[in-house]
Amino acid sequence: MANSSEFGPLTPAIEVAAAFPNNIHGKTVIITGVSPKSLGLATAAAFASQSPANLILTGRSPDKVEAAINELKSIYPNVKYHALILDLASQSSVRAAAAQLNKDASIPSVDILINNAGVMAIPTLTTPDFATNHIGHFLFTNLILPKLIKAASTSSTPTRIINVTSFGHQFSPVRFSDVNFTKAGAELPESERPEYQKTEFFTGKSHADDVYYGFFSYAQSKTANILHSVALNQKLWEKHGIASFAVHPGAVDTNINRHATPSDIELALKRVKELGFDSAQKTPGQGANTTVFAAVGSDLRPVGFEGDHARGAYLADCKVDDENVAAFATNKVFAERLWALSEELVGEKFDF
Ligand SMILES: NC(=O)c1ccc[n+]([C@@H]2O[C@H](COP(=O)([O-])OP(=O)(O)OC[C@H]3O[C@@H](n4cnc5c(N)ncnc54)[C@H](OP(=O)(O)O)[C@@H]3O)[C@@H](O)[C@H]2O)c1
Repeated sequence: MANSSEFGPLTPAIEVAAAFPNNIHGKTVIITGVSPKSLGLATAAAFASQSPANLILTGRSPDKVEAAINELKSIYPNVKYHALILDLASQSSVRAAAAQLNKDASIPSVDILINNAGVMAIPTLTTPDFATNHIGHFLFTNLILPKLIKAASTSSTPTRIINVTSFGHQFSPVRFSDVNFTKAGAELPESERPEYQKTEFFTGKSHADDVYYGFFSYAQSKTANILHSVALNQKLWEKHGIASFAVHPGAVDTNINRHATPSDIELALKRVKELGFDSAQKTPGQGANTTVFAAVGSDLRPVGFEGDHARGAYLADCKVDDENVAAFATNKVFAERLWALSEELVGEKFDF
């Protein structure tokens, strides 16, 4: 059986999938955010290569999901593909999609859920990244959880929930007292302030006086993705045997940069390189490797805790990466606070 030491940053996701065929063959996998030229599509292709029973592909644009499925069908015609349309920024859309899936008797259980969809750094505070990247996924995950619990209770292969986060989480904790950006930095409690020095290093400006800055909004949402995984492990691992991991895919050439200016991206990549990280842009087929490994890697250990901090919850380049995850993103007290805040924002409590 292959293990993580055989994979590197540029290992194609399809090779990772091929190393764990039994964890994919005959399984049901859901991936959010599947459009042409996206990580979601590359992730789907890696799963499709190992004959899952069902690949449920979600997106907000029916045309894009259909185009992605047609692309997959041309290479892997024998897989059963399902399009599930949901707009993560709309709780009613998420509820409708979850209800559609829950009443589909042909899908009794779900083995793997990959919360991959995302937007980055919307320039103005219209629909915040937090609503799409975290709250939409929080609600969808909880609503369909009975199907994951069913898989965990009947299958000997891993049942996992993967949250696709980013190294960029490091720029901001969750602003529990100001999740919707109404305050500049000086007005925030110290524990909720963005990392201004780091921001200046990466973007050329600290943005300390900004009430809203798109990259802080993205960073908050990506920290929330990691804390969501921490909370899911606490609630689901011992009781149901369901694990959750948060994954940084690397710098990947997709449509994610659509809201960012090319000069910002260029400077950020230059800085990443100066810090000694591999800043080579990965192809989507390489960028999906850690997601696939987190979803099906047999040698991944369950997330543990050292004091208040989760260990083993954050992965990058096909391995656990406890060194490059911010302390505010692994704190189990913050994970509980985020869970409570998210329940408040969706108007529903969840107990499993
Ligand atoms: N690419 C990178 O360098 C990089 C680095 C770190 C982390 N990530 C993370 O990787 C994940 C995938 O991003 P990507 O690079 O593949 O970007 P992408 O090409 O822009 O794909 C994002 C996907 O999310 C979907 N999406 C956006 N808003 C949505 C909404 N409100 N409801 C439902 N779906 C929505 C998009 O749909 P539309 O096509 O209809 O917009 C698209 O399918 C994201 O979570 C991102 O934060 C990417």
